[in-house]
Amino acid sequence: MRVFVAGASGAIGTRLIPQLVDRGHEVVGSSTSPESAERVRRLGAKPIVLDLLDPHAVRKSILGMQPDAIVHQATALADAKFTRNFDRTFAQTNRLRTEGTDALLAAAREAGVHRFVAQSFASYRHARDGGPVKTEDDPLNPAPPASMRESIAAMRHLEQAVTEAGGIVLRYGVFYGAADDGLIEPVRKRRYPILGAGGGYTSWIHLDDAAAATVIALEHDGPAIYNIVDDAPAPARDWLPVYAKALGAKPPRHFPRWLARLIAGEAAAVMGTEATAASNAKAKRELGWQPRYASWRQGFRAAYASSAPSGGRGSKDPARPAHSPA
Ligand SMILES: NC(=O)c1ccc[n+]([C@@H]2O[C@H](COP(=O)([O-])OP(=O)(O)OC[C@H]3O[C@@H](n4cnc5c(N)ncnc54)[C@H](OP(=O)(O)O)[C@@H]3O)[C@@H](O)[C@H]2O)c1
Repeated sequence: MRVFVAGASGAIGTRLIPQLVDRGHEVVGSSTSPESAERVRRLGAKPIVLDLLDPHAVRKSILGMQPDAIVHQATALADAKFTRNFDRTFAQTNRLRTEGTDALLAAAREAGVHRFVAQSFASYRHARDGGPVKTEDDPLNPAPPASMRESIAAMRHLEQAVTEAGGIVLRYGVFYGAADDGLIEPVRKRRYPILGAGGGYTSWIHLDDAAAATVIALEHDGPAIYNIVDDAPAPARDWLPVYAKALGAKPPRHFPRWLARLIAGEAAAVMGTEATAASNAKAKRELGWQPRYASWRQGFRAAYASSAPSGGRGSKDPARPAHSPA
């Protein structure tokens, strides 16, 4: 198939291109700058520079390239500063998930592209009632913390628009497996504490496993939503000390919930103490996908074993594994 990957130069896109090429697909990959385009070219895809927030340019590109399938992996989180206001950090990503998705779907419709796979997120989105591990059928939290509402709404918009168009939504776990994973520095510096009893759950996914699931999803018919997470959803009190140990860092500090709420805000406090994670049973059953790193326990060790202090954006190149010096 000719596959267009929007956001091909990012953390997941750069893992995805080689796997698509290996599978025999012809890949066109977009980024926003000539430097990123060069990274895409080196990985074996035809690069284009495209702003998903420019619907005319999106239409022109899709009609021009006539792909058989579109994969939407565009986010704007590379230089994200995580503050109390989650929605401010995610503002541009939210636009890519709403306006960007709509532009891609409109162009796909016009060009007669029926295969469409888009990135969403699995953790932190459900109400805690009824247990911490959720399936795709469990209801989403109707009352998320105020500072996350726009971000949660943007994911919901993407999921609804994509499935209504017959596409597939992949709710990935939290990515890890790159030398510039966002948590490396905070955990190393002991700035990512266990909050309260550390009962907030996370689902993790190694970037290579997320990419493998995406390749498989492209060969399935939608509409569908799949959680692409590992087999081991876990509370922060379990995974955070293991993450620190894998980095050779000191154990995480402990903060009471009230203090975390005061310093970092409600969203961070909720994530650390009562967030939910996800089950991958449906993806395994219907896609026949199995994560290579079934648990973050082995995955963190493999990713960070001899990890030096973290690198920069250049480390997105999968030719430089996470454990290589930055
Ligand atoms: N599930 C998760 O845990 C999750 C999901 C997403 C990201 N992250 C994390 O966030 C960090 C940054 O992510 P990232 O490396 O993927 O970088 P990113 O800045 O989020 O970029 C992702 C992709 O989207 C493209 N893009 C950005 N703005 C665009 C626009 N207006 N139109 C079209 N494409 C656009 C980028 O192009 P350029 O390269 O040209 O900017 C890149 O190809 C990483 O540590 C990653 O693991 C985690």
